[in-house]
Amino acid sequence: MCGIVGYVGNKDALPILLESLKKLEYRGYDSSGVGFLDHDAQLIVRKSKGKIRNLEELIRTQPLPFAHTGISHTRWATHGFPSDINAHPHTDSKHSIAVVHNGIIENYQELRSELSKKGCKFLSATDSEVIPQLIASFYKGDLLAAVRKTIAKLKGTFALGVISRGHPGVLIAARVGSPLIVGIGDQENFIASDVPAILDFTRRVIYLKDGQIAVLTKDRVELSAFDGKKVASSIDTVSFNVTAARKEGYPYFMLKEIHEQPNVLEQMLSLRLKNKRLILEGLGLSDDVLKRTRKVMVVACGTAYHAGLVGKYIIENLARIPVEVDTSSEFRYRNPIIDKHTLFLAVSQSGETADTLAAAREARAKGAKVIAICNVVGSSLAREADGILYTYAGQEIGVASTKAYTAQLMMFYLLALKLAHVRKSLSPKETKDLYRWLLLIPSLYREILKDMHNIQNIAEANSHFGCFLFLGRHVNFPSAMEGALKLKEISYIPAEGYAAGEMKHGPIALIDEYRAVVCINPQSHVYEKMSSNMQEIRARKGNIIAIATRGDSEVKSSADFVIEVPATPELLSPLLVALPLQMLAYFIAVKRGCDVDQPRNLAKSVTVE
Ligand code: AGP
Repeated sequence: MCGIVGYVGNKDALPILLESLKKLEYRGYDSSGVGFLDHDAQLIVRKSKGKIRNLEELIRTQPLPFAHTGISHTRWATHGFPSDINAHPHTDSKHSIAVVHNGIIENYQELRSELSKKGCKFLSATDSEVIPQLIASFYKGDLLAAVRKTIAKLKGTFALGVISRGHPGVLIAARVGSPLIVGIGDQENFIASDVPAILDFTRRVIYLKDGQIAVLTKDRVELSAFDGKKVASSIDTVSFNVTAARKEGYPYFMLKEIHEQPNVLEQMLSLRLKNKRLILEGLGLSDDVLKRTRKVMVVACGTAYHAGLVGKYIIENLARIPVEVDTSSEFRYRNPIIDKHTLFLAVSQSGETADTLAAAREARAKGAKVIAICNVVGSSLAREADGILYTYAGQEIGVASTKAYTAQLMMFYLLALKLAHVRKSLSPKETKDLYRWLLLIPSLYREILKDMHNIQNIAEANSHFGCFLFLGRHVNFPSAMEGALKLKEISYIPAEGYAAGEMKHGPIALIDEYRAVVCINPQSHVYEKMSSNMQEIRARKGNIIAIATRGDSEVKSSADFVIEVPATPELLSPLLVALPLQMLAYFIAVKRGCDVDQPRNLAKSVTVE
């Protein structure tokens, strides 16, 4: 998944291309580049491995002329390791056409060998380089015609920006399977991978659809289908704002976002649980439809998938409806069984995850109504869904999801209570108690945050271990998986989340004095079972960090370290244990000198499959 930007207009393109590109760095940051046409329509390209600041440094040492037309790109490598030469834009051999690409060209090897036989010299190891080479091979003076012929040969996914020496003042864009928007300005027009990248310049956007090409000049935008048919363009006016995220004194966005969670949840509850009334505006489904729901199907990736797994326990316990949870990448290819009584939930912080978008489209093709639980307003998933439940957690910059995760959890509790209400599966007293406890959660978060230094000390005392096992039971089995993901993705320490009851079926072989085991064991109906697992680990010299209910004196006898969380009904405990798990991962990663906000090999939004 990469970020692309394009500009054509009266202003100097370079600062616009760079400033907009920085807002797309969440999509990939292993290398970046800019390409543009100077006043003599000479094509100039500058690219650099590493973050955009490296590109800026390069440009500072090699100043660039004023230019009206340009493209820029920030990369997450799919084919070809991060390097200057593999960075985008890519050009043809004659250096007359430049292209930036987000997606995967699945038939690039075949195309590459065809072009090489015709004498094309490839410089990079990327799939994307075949695109400018193909355009050049078809080019007979009509750039749009050459782009059309090229697109007809491509298999896979792409969002493209194309400029050419022979066509100053022209920028061509096209998309299949990767997001791309056109921004409409005054004597200037833009393309970008998402709306926030160009919100500083315009609020008028066209959401390009799969199979569409846009030809932009400074005063015109013309849309057509790949086959050449004209397409009417509908211009939307973006109403939301995106405040530029700032660290506000925190060393990393992740730590700031961990601290934001009590306020995020408080705001969510004030919006959706008013005077003991549930308000799920955006759900778009009547109580009658909810009452007839026979199955809930959840698809998501990564942390969002873990939220879905917790959601399974919550919905099944409170609303007594069976819930299936699947990773989006598996769901989309397993020819799933869906009927009109299936409530289909697609969970995605970014709303741009390729596999989750594809899974939602697959579900809709099978007749399901798609409800999205999403954080980014106006994202692709939010726009395509039949109903949208925004978590409104605010922009999440840290690649490791924290506040978006706990907001997703909270949304599942509220949705489960809504389903329980329409199906009368809870007594009024049970409902009232749960409302009361949910409203307490933000203050309980603040209590746990007060224990941050103790958690930091425990994290640092265990940061030397080369392998972690996270164990939990029942509703905290997904918490164990989420804790393992948090740790591995920012500290690069191998970590595995497991159902504790499965430990003796294999993972116990891992236990020795060189491993750390995080045991999630708040008071619950499986507390004794989990305590036995902890004894079994202790008997094999495993180093145990326990997450337990405040005041639990028993747990101290079977753990090396104990992190306490306030007592709550057990079904609500995933909301609380998420916080120490996030902090453990954060402080271990910091202790190890890792780039917590932008870990290696990752991106905030996985827009390729
Ligand atoms: C979470 O910490 C990870 N960054 C990753 O697993 C993420 O949850 C996953 O890529 C799904 O992203 P989405 O919620 O934007 O769809």
